[in-house]
Amino acid sequence: MAEDVKEASTSQLSTGYSAAKQEEYNIYLKKITSLFHQKIAKKMDSSAKLTDFERRTILGTGAYGVVYLVKHIGAENYYAMKALEKAKIVKLKQIEHTYNEKTILCGLDFPFVVHMKYFFKDNVYIYFVMPFIGGGEMFFHLRNESKFNENYAKFYASQVLLALEYLHACSLVYRDLKPENILIDRVGYTKLTDFGFCKFLHGRTWTLCGTPEYLAPEIILSKGYGTTVDWWSFGVLIYEMCAGYPPFFASEPMKVYEKIVTGKYRNPAHFSPALIDLLSHTLVLDVTRRFGNLKNGMLDFKNHKWFSEINWDHIFNGRTPAPFVPKTDSPGDTQQFDLYDTEKIKECSFCMFEKEFKDF
Ligand SMILES: Nc1ncnc2c1ncn2[C@@H]1O[C@H](COP(=O)(O)OP(=O)(O)OP(=O)(O)O)[C@@H](O)[C@H]1O
Ligand SMILES: [Mg+2]
Repeated sequence: MAEDVKEASTSQLSTGYSAAKQEEYNIYLKKITSLFHQKIAKKMDSSAKLTDFERRTILGTGAYGVVYLVKHIGAENYYAMKALEKAKIVKLKQIEHTYNEKTILCGLDFPFVVHMKYFFKDNVYIYFVMPFIGGGEMFFHLRNESKFNENYAKFYASQVLLALEYLHACSLVYRDLKPENILIDRVGYTKLTDFGFCKFLHGRTWTLCGTPEYLAPEIILSKGYGTTVDWWSFGVLIYEMCAGYPPFFASEPMKVYEKIVTGKYRNPAHFSPALIDLLSHTLVLDVTRRFGNLKNGMLDFKNHKWFSEINWDHIFNGRTPAPFVPKTDSPGDTQQFDLYDTEKIKECSFCMFEKEFKDF
């Protein structure tokens, strides 16, 4: 594939989204990113506590804790409550990542990303409470359908692109794009969740983090990297949505990495020429030739032939009808989630790791 990239023609370009439109959108982005920074500087206030919520079921589990569906007792609204165990965060050296996650979630305000509603801590855990996104993980739907047709995939990809564009404008690199972290809301639009690896980017960064199949080659090769890693993962995501499996996979992470750094992957026979072309500009080893990182910025994606049916303004405003609306019967309905056994919230008579989480 790397060879093909050099020859990539410009015949897959359309010009639906003009430079002037992008300029206008950039002005808007500037406004909302300055709001993001203001919200962070102001420090969100939260006096919520565990007893304000009634715990229902477990929506997800991770290395540091669990995510519960909860109902706010007074307001009757449903939320997703991520409970992170302080001891695990400390043991796995994730204190800084957790601070980042909290700060970032408090500042976010964009249609295609989740945001913080409340946060608090107790002796054992720290808690993030976000609006409950009821349509389930993209992962759940992708597994059920085995793959998405390209129209579904481009509808989802368009929102993920706008979300990444917003995050990058906020000086953030996301670093954990994958179908498990993309939620579908009750009208069928996507929201990115899990800001556990998201961080403020000042220049380059070096940390190896993310999910093996989605890691960009420059992370694996321990080169300093920036937001280009998210565009690589974006290519992996588009490929996985359309193929039903990721472009680089193997039984062990080491073997996955070996494949990624070669940059070679195969396109299934059913991929359209436009999709193949888009991937060849996204899954490209050389970051100086990767879409998202070139002089035309987002226009390379927004005007690519594969996205030609996308009306970017309509997507942003939620005016494009979703190709698939997950079935939900009520606001707290979890039929679109794989549920887990409930876990008891641990208690402790003293405050664990008080010093480490003092500013939380
Ligand atoms: N706002 C939300 N609404 C509905 N479900 C959510 C929400 N946030 C998270 N979830 C569910 O919980 C799962 C786990 O959440 P998340 O990805 O934030 O944690 P994690 O993967 O355990 O985090 P980490 O990678 O930091 O350990 C998600 O994949 C999703 O299924
Ligand atoms: Mg996750």
